[in-house]
Amino acid sequence: MAVPFVQDWDLVQTLGEGAYGEVRLLVNRQTEEAVAVKVIDTSQAKECAENVKKEVCVHKSLSHQNIVRFFGHRKEGSTVYLFLEYCSGGELFDRIEPDVGMPQKDAHKFFQQLIAAVEYLHSVGITHRDIKPENILLDDKDNLKLTDFGLATMFRHKGRERLLTRLCGTLPYVAPELLSQTEFSAQPADIWACGIVLTAMLAGELPWDQPSESCQEYLDWLQKKTYLPPWKKIPPMLLGLLSKLLLPNPDRRITISDLKNDRWFAQGVKQPPVSTGNKHFRSEVGVLSRANSDDRMQFSSSQPDLVPGGCETVSFLGQTDGQVSFSQPTKPEHMLLGSQLMGTPGASQNPWQRLVRRMTRFFTNVDADASFSGLQDACDGLGLSFKCSCTKQVTVSTLDKRNNKLIFKVHLLEMDQKVLLDFRLSKGDGLEFKRLFVKIKQKLGDIISTQKILHPLM
Ligand code: ADE
Repeated sequence: MAVPFVQDWDLVQTLGEGAYGEVRLLVNRQTEEAVAVKVIDTSQAKECAENVKKEVCVHKSLSHQNIVRFFGHRKEGSTVYLFLEYCSGGELFDRIEPDVGMPQKDAHKFFQQLIAAVEYLHSVGITHRDIKPENILLDDKDNLKLTDFGLATMFRHKGRERLLTRLCGTLPYVAPELLSQTEFSAQPADIWACGIVLTAMLAGELPWDQPSESCQEYLDWLQKKTYLPPWKKIPPMLLGLLSKLLLPNPDRRITISDLKNDRWFAQGVKQPPVSTGNKHFRSEVGVLSRANSDDRMQFSSSQPDLVPGGCETVSFLGQTDGQVSFSQPTKPEHMLLGSQLMGTPGASQNPWQRLVRRMTRFFTNVDADASFSGLQDACDGLGLSFKCSCTKQVTVSTLDKRNNKLIFKVHLLEMDQKVLLDFRLSKGDGLEFKRLFVKIKQKLGDIISTQKILHPLM
């Protein structure tokens, strides 16, 4: 099943996909080290190659316990591979039960870790610009790791801050000033997105399609109608915090330093200092943004971005196809992710600690044909369009309750005389995907195996 990718490294499975391409799991045959590789096809869009350069440039400069580590990258023709820390806990949105959320204790820990990541980013002058549960991963110990720096940019350089003008991100998570003003501050916009993530964690739903006055749910929030969902599911102390995070005026919105004095946020914090990680951060990063997944907005702008300094010259000048761009020279024909490079997780990493805790999958207790027709009937019953790409893969598409496209794939894998149905989001809102998954699962109740899944790569 495993396919050799580069010497000693096997491509084991696809971890996720987006408009940019795929993220796959690579495992070292000898050491069992696991690494995620993001495969980006830059031939599609003109700006894509530039955008990937910027993503590499930003991500490689970052070092923090709550940010996915960047090990290196490699270019082959128009394909760029980004080697990243593998997060076996999967995406944060997989921990959110639709319309319910997650235990407050878990939301508290994840929110503190998310804020630690954002505080670090801001301390080094970078804004993420697309904070959402799909870009938040969990490691084997359930530590939060922020990822996907494809839209990140520099907002402060040598102590001088600039305002942003580019409208980008994902509509339900964008701050209102991005839709109403031509210039806005970077930091409050990231804070707003963190507030939306906290709402999703606490209530299992997103409060609105977009924070504009054309959106009734947003108007209801402005009018403090907290007797409506999602707010009515949230305890008062937390609603108090959310109303500071989701303040429409960015100048009045809570800052990270004030957040630390919030009673709920500060619970269980012994020492205030939050590590800002890398002391050797190079702040000269490029400032391009990229058009990738369709649910992310991408707009051209007349904004004169800062001229990339160190980053572009350090990483990209003179780069040729097939060249590996780690911090130390290495043989271009090999991937050679090893300790001599940027460092990968220790070889002592226990494969059993790397279980992928993906929740959108289950085994059936019937054969592949019966699983397939069961799935087809369930989709028909829910009015979903069902397309068979091959015998082992189905593409399901629909519109969600907000009329946004929702597309996911179901892989049917025969394993140990059982059939695994593995659901993956291709396009659309992660929470809506999860909601639909739950409905399909309910419909297939009779053929779902109740046996616990126990497999090293599940
Ligand atoms: N999906 C996307 N990136 C990932 C990573 N680094 N680890 C695990 N799953 C992922």
